[in-house]
Amino acid sequence: MGGRSRWEWRTASAVRGQSRTDRSGTVELCLNVYFCFVHLIIGRSRLPNTEKSVGNERLTEEFVHIPVLSEEAIAGLAVRAGGHYLDATVGGAGHARLILEAAPDLCLTAIDRDELAIRVARERLASFGERVTFWQGNFAQYEPGEQQFDGIIADLGVSSAQLDLSERGFSFREEARLDMRMDARQSLTAEEIVNHWDETELADIFYKYGEERFSRRIARQIGRSRPLRTTTELAEAIARSVPGRYRHGRIHPATRVFQALRIAVNQELASLETFLARVADWLKPEGRLAVISFHSLEDRIVKHRLRESPQLRVLTKKPIRPSEQESQNNPRSRSAKLRIAERVTAIE
Ligand SMILES: C[S@@+](CC[C@H](N)C(=O)[O-])C[C@H]1O[C@@H](n2cnc3c(N)ncnc32)[C@H](O)[C@@H]1O
Repeated sequence: MGGRSRWEWRTASAVRGQSRTDRSGTVELCLNVYFCFVHLIIGRSRLPNTEKSVGNERLTEEFVHIPVLSEEAIAGLAVRAGGHYLDATVGGAGHARLILEAAPDLCLTAIDRDELAIRVARERLASFGERVTFWQGNFAQYEPGEQQFDGIIADLGVSSAQLDLSERGFSFREEARLDMRMDARQSLTAEEIVNHWDETELADIFYKYGEERFSRRIARQIGRSRPLRTTTELAEAIARSVPGRYRHGRIHPATRVFQALRIAVNQELASLETFLARVADWLKPEGRLAVISFHSLEDRIVKHRLRESPQLRVLTKKPIRPSEQESQNNPRSRSAKLRIAERVTAIE
């Protein structure tokens, strides 16, 4: 690449800024989303337009996601030969592959809400043959039947690939329909929320899921700008509603609102609560659970639910964080936190 692009310059200044300033969960949340976008812009060739469809064969190559805290997660699961593992968020199959390679003769059940992720994972894990089975759906609704697992991993949120495919509507750097559904079978989209929910409801989700301080002004501006059909129209409306000095800061003013909408569309926190309430029953005694979260709202839920479960013993007093090296190599990993728990043999 020749001269530095605007985005590269912004990345460099954001890195410098972060090392100097506070590293609170909130800032990390925003930086994570921001870095993820920037990383993807720089790191991959663009697909031509929104008609590039999910059916395109090139999509498997385009579906790029670097697994986060992979060594730590595999070690934490204490993967053993002949075991049966559950990857509740298979995504680009990075963690799944490492689990399958960690010991011979083990089996893996792979879940994802996203049909495309399942398709990609199926292709990437084809060489493991019948050792892998797939299920498309929300991990909160999974029914394992009699099956109990030696280990379960959940790597929460959206994948880089989902963010990067502009037609999914998760990102505002290219114009696309306001979609944001991980599972295209569900009817609720971001477009529906943005155009039909009350301004008070909008403000509430921006505040609750995005920790957005200008939630009310943004909601009012959205109300005045309706209908808003695309990601860029929404991002512009948000930028218009915040004070000037926030328009040119190191985080785009739409970052928190997009995060909030994504959480609301996919009911991410409610799904996580249900999953954590059920997951201990899916583990064999001494089976391990590894959960990777990317923002403080998720991590708070994981921390408390693991601690409160009488069936689980928490093995990580503090969450495991990525090394400096990993943070540098994969900016998306910066805000990751890994917590591990083990199913107790008898209720203690
Ligand atoms: C961070 S990515 C996982 C990446 C994966 N560990 C890898 O190494 O490639 C998160 C994935 O979880 C999926 N996901 C998020 N919430 C889910 C849920 N409630 N149920 C099932 N899948 C979910 C997303 O569709 C996405 O593909």
